[in-house]
Amino acid sequence: MSHIDARDVPADETSRLRLADGGLDYRVIAGEEIDEFLRASWRGFLDGEPTDAEIAEERALFDAQRRAIAVFDDTALQPLPVATEASWVSSLTVPGGEMPMWAISDVTVAATHRRRGIARAMLEGELRAAADAGLAVAGLTATEATIYGRYGFAPAAPAAEVSVDARRAGWGAADPRARVLFVEREQLAADLHDLHERTRLSRPGDVAGWERRWRQKAGLTEGTEKPREIRGVRAVDEEGALVGAMVFRLKEGKTYDSHLLEIGHLIAATPDAHAALWRFAITYDLVATVRADLQPTDDALPWLVADRRGVALRPHDHGWLRILDVPAALAARSLTGAFGVRLRVTDPLGLADGSWSVMQIGGQGVQIAPLEDSERVEVTLDVGALSAAFLGGVSLETLAAAGRVTGDAEKIAALSGALRAHRPPQLSLWY
Ligand SMILES: CC(C)(COP(=O)(O)OP(=O)(O)OC[C@H]1O[C@@H](n2cnc3c(N)ncnc32)[C@H](O)[C@@H]1OP(=O)(O)O)[C@@H](O)C(=O)NCCC(=O)NCCS
Repeated sequence: MSHIDARDVPADETSRLRLADGGLDYRVIAGEEIDEFLRASWRGFLDGEPTDAEIAEERALFDAQRRAIAVFDDTALQPLPVATEASWVSSLTVPGGEMPMWAISDVTVAATHRRRGIARAMLEGELRAAADAGLAVAGLTATEATIYGRYGFAPAAPAAEVSVDARRAGWGAADPRARVLFVEREQLAADLHDLHERTRLSRPGDVAGWERRWRQKAGLTEGTEKPREIRGVRAVDEEGALVGAMVFRLKEGKTYDSHLLEIGHLIAATPDAHAALWRFAITYDLVATVRADLQPTDDALPWLVADRRGVALRPHDHGWLRILDVPAALAARSLTGAFGVRLRVTDPLGLADGSWSVMQIGGQGVQIAPLEDSERVEVTLDVGALSAAFLGGVSLETLAAAGRVTGDAEKIAALSGALRAHRPPQLSLWY
């Protein structure tokens, strides 16, 4: 997809100097220093001390692909950095294809060093570094919804938490043709990987997976809590081909016949496989409740059960995006229909601001050209608003109602229509 190796991208000089002013050393690290980085990241996310085996498994990601940024304070008594941040070039599914995305993760600042601008320096530095490296968009998943908007990120690929009162919901659709079979955990990890890569291009907002993520889901990595509780099934079609997989745990409720079936991951390559896996979960004997997160916000489940009031579906923010280069980002996705808009994007960090004429006529694809000073702007929006609407997850009319988009109502509607996507975006994993 992209030929950029994130590990070759240098630490941003502006942020390096800003942190150096406060006596802190901000740099890209590699090799054995990654071990201390990981210990600091575990601590930053309120986890216990990682084992050597956990460190070794996680470090392999950095040896292979990920770039680690760390901030050191010479006065600290431990060799751990006081702040961490990881990044790599991933692939983001967009309407009509995929594009390289600067993925950001492991953002932590030690509790001893919080609220003195270290995270701000790291985040701003990352965005400048990614833009300088030629990336048009950055992405992340967030622990808290209030952290990243100030840097121009916005929720763009939501997901839904689903809770099913299994007995009330019942099964209300035709019997799926796919069969569901239990599998060993090694097979489960391989199935998840295979299915994710086969299907992720059908979900705008989803990103490329990696082997360790699937091994974690399947309970095969060091540090997994109660891995032996993890069960897995695959769905196969009438020819026996793999069409779906599901990871789940069963937890006893107040009584032996009110178990909770907690889905760790559910992925289907066909609607029939999706139905087969859900029916398997909902009709599991002795199970009263089924729960799953990171499901599509337009999931078919309410249409598959006998009583839709047995299904509670709560959409929430999940995948956050930050456009770094407006023309490149708009050109990377397909836009719907014929339209023409003179657009201004504002960006407090100065990375993506500018004014352009954006138009699409007939089958010629989108044409984007900078506006002359004399040309009147028709629609103005901040970079976060454009990032939120980039995959069609929210309309510009909604953002206009929130004061994030201003201009001619007809032009707002025209651009909003162009950004609309055939399928609502969804991000199916954490990164
Ligand atoms: C979130 C975290 C990285 C912030 O680090 P920090 O160095 O204290 O942040 P900064 O001092 O640079 O603050 C930058 C801005 O973010 C705000 N901010 C920082 N942490 C915040 C939080 N948890 N929630 C909301 N706002 C936050 C600050 O108020 C500040 O705002 P301003 O510059 O607009 O006035 C740090 O608290 C942390 O490690 N938390 C635990 C791990 C975590 O949740 N990481 C995020 C992973 S997605």
